[in-house]
Amino acid sequence: MIVNEILASLNKAKEDPELVLVVDDEASILEVIDEMLQGLTYEVVLAQSLAEADKILKDKEVAVVLTDLVLGADSGVDVIFHTQKYQPNAKIILMTGKPTIQNAISVLKNGAYDYLVKPFDMETLKATVKRGADQVRLERENIRLNEIMSFYKISEAMGSEIDPDRLLKLILDTAVREFNADFAALHLIRRDGRINKQKSVCKDINIYEILTKFSQDLAEEVSYKGKPLIINDQEAYIRTGMRVIKSSICQPLMAKGKILGTLNLIRTKTPHQYTTGQLTTLSLFAAKAAIEIENSKLYQDLEDAYFDTVAALSNAIEARDRYTGGHNERVWQITIGIAKGLGWGDDKVKELKMGAMLHDIGKIGVPDAILNKPGPLTPQEFAIMKRHPEVGASMVEKITFLNPALPYILYHHERYDGHGYPIGLRGEDIPIQGRLLAVVDTFDAITSDRPYRKGKGVDKAITEIQNNAGSQFDSGVVAAFLASIEYMETDPVL
Ligand SMILES: [Fe+2]
Repeated sequence: MIVNEILASLNKAKEDPELVLVVDDEASILEVIDEMLQGLTYEVVLAQSLAEADKILKDKEVAVVLTDLVLGADSGVDVIFHTQKYQPNAKIILMTGKPTIQNAISVLKNGAYDYLVKPFDMETLKATVKRGADQVRLERENIRLNEIMSFYKISEAMGSEIDPDRLLKLILDTAVREFNADFAALHLIRRDGRINKQKSVCKDINIYEILTKFSQDLAEEVSYKGKPLIINDQEAYIRTGMRVIKSSICQPLMAKGKILGTLNLIRTKTPHQYTTGQLTTLSLFAAKAAIEIENSKLYQDLEDAYFDTVAALSNAIEARDRYTGGHNERVWQITIGIAKGLGWGDDKVKELKMGAMLHDIGKIGVPDAILNKPGPLTPQEFAIMKRHPEVGASMVEKITFLNPALPYILYHHERYDGHGYPIGLRGEDIPIQGRLLAVVDTFDAITSDRPYRKGKGVDKAITEIQNNAGSQFDSGVVAAFLASIEYMETDPVL
């Protein structure tokens, strides 16, 4: 969708006439040049001073600037500098009545595209302006085409990122790169207009606080008005009292007609001002970013709802088993330490939480008389108890969201030596989720009280697990467990 919008803007750009700004302090010369340029497809704007030229350069996207070298008290060289500041892509053509080689070299060195020696004829003027305007059009189309490719890649990346923090970082990093910014911030707002969450990237930590404050104020203003804002260096100076900001652009993030917040970009090193053309591009980027932020939020709400369901199921398991209260939570707390020691990422740890909370869900199918028996189980009773991993797996396998918990539920009673249940898998054939949970589940069982026996101490449980490394348990997981326990012994969880 965003690619179509850029293509539409590319086609619109082809239809829009290029703007040619003519600067001369003599009104009669302006009139002659205006007349000479009639018949071409350009919009011609006239300025009789540097101040008049400045106003146009700040407000409109200019393709070609045609300026006299002498402008009363001002100089054509100042027009070059101001054009480079506000319209870095525009082509500058200097008109001079005193042609010397040095003069020519000097203006070209200063960044002028070409120069015309007065008096010049209409054909020479038209040809020079046309050459400059064609060059600008070609460069703009190239930039837009690059943007299409770039935005296509960005859209793909943003669409596949659902983690909220990673998505916001991707948006900020992309904005800094694509819009040549030194600071970028996303301010997400609540319904009452107050900033709810913000995230930023800043290339210079020394001015981070100044830029953040400026950006927050801008976010509240733009969110309230619902319109984008470009702020130049002078305006930024008035607002902050410091000459730190060269240019700033703030775009509201809209999704389904609502303002989610703003995307702010600030230049502190790059002297070029943001242009209205860049604002158009930023608005397309922000539209895509807003949709993805909204999707990510919806996904997050859905995930929270699912986790609430998991917590409710976990409570249901514990409510039935009066002797193991808090077992699932303790297992989860210890297991996460091991998983981090094994270098697991956030997504896998999230699945682990689900698995740890639900691993005994199949006990729901075990009769109370067996589950809460105040003594050791008979072989027949134990056979029923041993079915809980398969019962649990069959309960969750049809619920796609709970599927990551399956290997924890099904394999947490398998043994590394192949003598476990329900399948009797051996060694690495047991999925890592099962090998990991087996260690923690056993540790918690040894240390917990039962009605017919008192729980053993942590030291004894550790020794028992160490003694069974390589037989009952995976040695690698035991090593990670021991490292994790050592760290947690200072923690009140145990
Ligand atoms: Fe179990």
